[in-house]
Parts: sequence; C-alpha cells; structure tokens
Amino acid sequence: MNFKLEIAKRISEHLGNVPVSDILPGIEVPPNPEMGDFAFPCFKLSKTLKKSPAIIAEQLSASFANDALLEKAQPAGAYLNFFINKSLYAGEIIKEIIKNGVNYGADNSYSGKRYLVDYSSPNIAKPFHVGHIPTTVIGHALYNVFKFLGCDIISINHLGDWGTQFGKLIVAYKNWGNEADVKKGGVAELMRLYVKFHDEAENNPALNDEARGWLVKMEHGDEEALALWKWFNDISLDEYKNNTYKRLGIDFDYYTGESFYNDKMADVARELKEKNLLKESDGAMIVDLENWGMPPCLILRRDGGTLYPTRDISAALYRKKTFGFDKCLYITCMDQNLHFAQWFKVVELMGNTWAQDLIHIPLGLINFEEGKLSTRKGHVILLDDLLNDAVKKTRDIIEEKNPCLKNKDEIAEMVGMGAVVFSNLYNSRIKDVSFSWERALSFEGESGPYVQYTHARAASILKKASGLCATGAETGGNGESDAQETGSIEASVSPETGGNAAKDFNFSGVDFANLTDEYSREVLSILDAYPQKIKDCAEKFEPFILSRALIELCQAFNKFYNANIVLTEDAAVRNARLALVYCVKTVLEAGLGLLGIKAPDEM
Ligand code: ARG
Repeated sequence: MNFKLEIAKRISEHLGNVPVSDILPGIEVPPNPEMGDFAFPCFKLSKTLKKSPAIIAEQLSASFANDALLEKAQPAGAYLNFFINKSLYAGEIIKEIIKNGVNYGADNSYSGKRYLVDYSSPNIAKPFHVGHIPTTVIGHALYNVFKFLGCDIISINHLGDWGTQFGKLIVAYKNWGNEADVKKGGVAELMRLYVKFHDEAENNPALNDEARGWLVKMEHGDEEALALWKWFNDISLDEYKNNTYKRLGIDFDYYTGESFYNDKMADVARELKEKNLLKESDGAMIVDLENWGMPPCLILRRDGGTLYPTRDISAALYRKKTFGFDKCLYITCMDQNLHFAQWFKVVELMGNTWAQDLIHIPLGLINFEEGKLSTRKGHVILLDDLLNDAVKKTRDIIEEKNPCLKNKDEIAEMVGMGAVVFSNLYNSRIKDVSFSWERALSFEGESGPYVQYTHARAASILKKASGLCATGAETGGNGESDAQETGSIEASVSPETGGNAAKDFNFSGVDFANLTDEYSREVLSILDAYPQKIKDCAEKFEPFILSRALIELCQAFNKFYNANIVLTEDAAVRNARLALVYCVKTVLEAGLGLLGIKAPDEM
C-alpha cells in the first residue's frame, strides 16, 4: 500500500473538489518522527477554500477521526500531521516482502525499453589492472538493476582488442618468448612479454617502429600477424571469462571488441565524407568541432589507419541498426569525457537524432590508501592479485573469528569478492574510490562483509528458529545464541532449504502490533523505502543509493537485534519478530545480489 497516496486520496475525498494530483506532491515526510509519518501543509488550499490554513488543518483532522489507516491526524498550525496505524503499516510491508521474496521492489518501470550497457572493456594484451574495477562493478550493478526493473538490457564488452599493443606483443614474443611458455603461462606470460617490451624499448626505440610495422601488417591482413593476434586474444579472453569475470559473477551478452568493427569503418569514413564532415588536417582526416568548443575528432590517421573514435562511431551505428536501442550507456573513467563528447557530437552531425540516447556515465579513479599492494610486476596492480589478496585476508579473518565454519574457502571467496565490489559501490560514482583494506574488510563498518555478516546473522536466527541448527553468525549482542528452545514456534521446517524460505514459517497469523516499537519501526521504514531506492539507483545511474540503503538496513537491524530478543518465550512476539528478520534477510540477499555480491548464510 502506498500510504502517501492513500492519504492524498482521502484528503481529496474529504475536500470534495480538489483533485488527488494537486494534493499528492504537497505531502511531506516531517523532519522528526514526533511530528508523524506524513504532513500536509494547508497553505496552498487557503486561496481556493477561502479559509486560513490552520482552520483547514483543524477541519480536515476531524474528517479523519475514525480512519483505520491512521492512529491520528493532528493539526499543528498550518500543517496536518498524520500518524499511520503502526501495525497496519508493519503488516503491509511484511506481507509484500513475503509475497515477493527476493523480487520485492521489482516492477516494470523499464519494461518495453531496450538499453545497451558498454562496460568493463579492458584492453587485451595489456594487464587487466585495478583501473578497470570501477567500470566493471558499477556496470554490472547497473545491468542487474535495470534488468530487475523490467528493462531489456544487453551488456557489451567493448574489448580493446586491436591496436599497437598487439604489435608490441608480437615483437616481444618473437624476440623473447616461445609457444610452450605462452601456452603454459597464459596471460601472465603475455604480460611478462609486454613489460619486457617496454623495458627494452627504453634503450632501443627502434622496437617501437617494429611494433608499428606489425600493426600495419595486421591491418593489411597479414596471415602470421593475424594468427598471433588471434592467439593472444583467445588466451586473454578465456582467462577473463573463466577466472576474473567468473569470480565476480559477471558474463556479457556480447564480447564484441574494437576489432569487430574492422570491416565496418570504411563505411563510416565514406558517410562522413559524403556528408561533408571530413576535413584534412596535417594529412589526417578529422571532423572539426570548433563550433562546439571542442578539439577536432580524429577519424583517420595519416597512414589511413583508424582510431578509437572511429571505432566507437562505427560501433554506435552498428548497435543502433542491430539492436534498435532506446539508450546506449557507456561506463568509463571520466578521463574519457572529451572522447565521448566529441564522437557523440559527430554522430549527431551525421544527422542521427538518436545521438541524444548515447549516454556516457563517467567514473572516478581507484586509489589505494595504504600505498602499495602486492603486485606481480611492479608496474601496475593486477585485478586478479587484488582479488586473491582479498580472499586470503578474508580467510585469515574467518580463521580467527569462526574457526569451525564449514566451507571456509568457498565463503572466503564470496566475502573477499564482496569486500572489493562493495568498496567500489559505496560512494557516488564520480568520486575517486579510496580503497583501504581495513575499511573494505571490516565486519562492523560500512563494507560488503558487514552487510554479508548481518545477512548471515539473520539467516542464522531463522535457522535456529526452525530448529535445524544451533550455531551461526551471531556472536555477541543479546545472547541470542543461548535463546530458549523453540518448541512452540509455529514453524514447519522444510529440510532442503533450512530456515531460508518464508514457506518454512507460517507467518499468516502474525500480529503486527508486536512490531510497533521504535527499533522495528526504523527497520520497517527502511524496508518500505527500498523499492524506491532501486528506482533512484537506475534513474541516476548510481549504485551507491542501493549500497547505502543496505548499510542503513543493517544498522537498523542490528539495533533492533540488540534491543529485542527475537527467539523469546512469547510465541506471538517471536513470530512477529521472525517475520521481520525474514524480511531483512530477504532484502539483504536481494540487494547484495543486485550489486553483484553473494550472500552466504553462514560466515
Ligand atoms: N578499452 C577502453 C579503455 O580501457 C574502454 C572502452 C569503453 N567503451 C567504449 N565504447 N569506448 O579505456
């Protein structure tokens, strides 16, 4: 039930001649709970009704005297303050969550819309380093959220799989590598060769010319060059798919990288020429953007070779033709702002009104507060190394806090990933991420593990209530672990799922009047606001709106848990509290899932 809307409808009914649409936008949430759950300022009506706002508030309040929706409607000067019937409020929210499970908050706001999201897009043959984490995890979260809201969303990994770096790699391979080592070492060996090339080229600049020569060979279809290129690509992509992305739970609908457009760019150059947009400059071909306050967009190099913008323009035309998208989102670091602004403008100048549906979503950088992290090769921090470190550190924490846990490795993997992913989703995306191990791995602070831990705590309470298991995540607090036996609980246990599913409990007879204390109320109001947070997250392309909502929920839940014994003697109270615990667990699991993080039941 939308309480705000219900109130607006009733006000409109009581007044008789003012439409709901005039009332609804005026209804506010008062700054402090003593003033009620909602407030309606009566100033605006004063003119129409020819009465003072205070009189209107007074008279309206009388019409609400026997309304079951409310505890009371209290006039306060020009305002009418509404106090929602607390058990009705609790019941509405809880029933909704129990009905929908992890799909609570899903709706069809974006159904009928097709979005493309271009994200992650590392440069193959260069190390997959931590600089690509923000786009990878933010892109994935947005993909999930749009899908959840009914969008037909398609993910594309626009791999940097063409360019001079392959020339360099070929030179390095021919000079310092061999087939057996590359087969055995995979990406690590490719990276060794790549780094070696740079070290050697410092003293021998001729190597750079050689590398460029190999790129030209690739561009002219030289068999040997292309075979090596393809081999290096396959090795890298296989490893991303089967290792890095897999660990993060990510897959893409398309891995169409830059090379995919090799045979499509001649058309772009031709069209630009036909439309008189192409100009020569120093032998290169450009689109002049001076009128729009931007430097020219480079289309063709002096030797006729294509460039990054050429590929993006070609990709956009191809995508529009192939997918007919409503929007195409590009998620990259903000140092590419100019690049996107330039080529978006070129697409527009080509006469495509849909250029306005190309959206660049810029991100900040990732920095490391504690300075150096382990790296395999000194030059950059590799994503895989960071993930491995996270898991290792998590494993140590588990060993210390919960040495008897089963599946320690599996859970350390989930929590380690959660730590890294969450820390990239916790602030507005334009802000630089300052990564600190202490913060990322804290079980108490604003971190992934904290949300996962709170989820496990809720799962453990439910498990215990269903009588299956007596150990779990709760370690401190109110002595829940010693709580009395649960003989009289109205729980029927399904052995396969333990305490995980609402169907394990019979919540049908719950008396929601048992959830009107301030701690329950706080939890409920966050659960109530959660569906809107998901929508805001999509609307603003900001996953941090969701991650913060989860943190708030955890904080409120932990307060609730410390103040209220869930597995108490009183069966009615216990069932009501269990229903709330179930809802918190469900929403945490669902929210983490949207962010791309797993929610283990124990940790
Ligand atoms: N490969 C590029 C990089 O690492 C990102 C590509 C982003 N997508 C695009 N369509 N330009 O910087």
